[in-house]
Amino acid sequence: MGEGVPIEEKARRASAPVRDSLKEVGLPAPRWGLVLGSGLDPTLSGDPGSVSMRWRFEELPGLRPTTVPGHPGTFEYRFIEGAPVLLQRGRIHYYETRDLRSVCLPVLLMRDLGVGSLLLTNAAGGLNPSFHVGEFMLVRDHIDLIGAGLLWELMPAGADIGFPDLSGTYDRDFGDRLLSLAGGCGVRLREGVLVAVPGPAYETPAEARYLRIIGGDAVSMSLVPEAICAHLWGMRVAALSCITNVHPPPAGIPLTHDEVLKAAGRSAAALERLLRSLISTEGSA
Ligand code: HPA
Repeated sequence: MGEGVPIEEKARRASAPVRDSLKEVGLPAPRWGLVLGSGLDPTLSGDPGSVSMRWRFEELPGLRPTTVPGHPGTFEYRFIEGAPVLLQRGRIHYYETRDLRSVCLPVLLMRDLGVGSLLLTNAAGGLNPSFHVGEFMLVRDHIDLIGAGLLWELMPAGADIGFPDLSGTYDRDFGDRLLSLAGGCGVRLREGVLVAVPGPAYETPAEARYLRIIGGDAVSMSLVPEAICAHLWGMRVAALSCITNVHPPPAGIPLTHDEVLKAAGRSAAALERLLRSLISTEGSA
């Protein structure tokens, strides 16, 4: 069970410096939240002449700094295509902290600031044999094998958790919108089921075969806890996994984090086109 301070209260404390800074200069609450995963570092510069602000995770009460290369650990507020957006560059993973509250806190910080639509991204290994490196997968559903009792972690001890229905975690219309825009942005967008594993090891060949057999199209060590948390707290969620490697690896070459980062980096410009197109066509959703 989640111990101590309820997570909503932690989110309120963590978001306070951001809220205060925005209030001070009379800026509106962010409507969009974008989480940029491993190596996915599009510039997404703000509209010309608009205000930008930036906070490192460790400047916000209760947030931990990131420890993994390719995860800067910053929040950036800026106007993109006319809409106020909060960009989260990098994330905390379960394998870093073994604590799902610290993984999910940034999501609740965004919600606390007013973010209604959340787009999560990450790097993932392709399990579906038709997937190629550099493509994106729209996450339509997931299989959570992190197995760390997310709901127990998030709720205060003694809270009535009930039996939440997670079948609508990824908003159908939001996903359809991304699919309809992808072609025009030169993004090859596939659809599928993301399996979340605790990591930090990459899968053995037998594990990858197993994950495919149970229904996975891609596998990653992130995103799913944040998606569940955002959904349970009422946000509209969509998720894109960048396929940075495939299983089995070609010619049995061992997979490295460096290779994952390089592949994600090559896809960052495509992601930027899609995100800009989404925001410009939906406005401040
Ligand atoms: N497995 C798990 N996580 C990952 C992978 C993978 O193959 N690629 C990028 N993140």
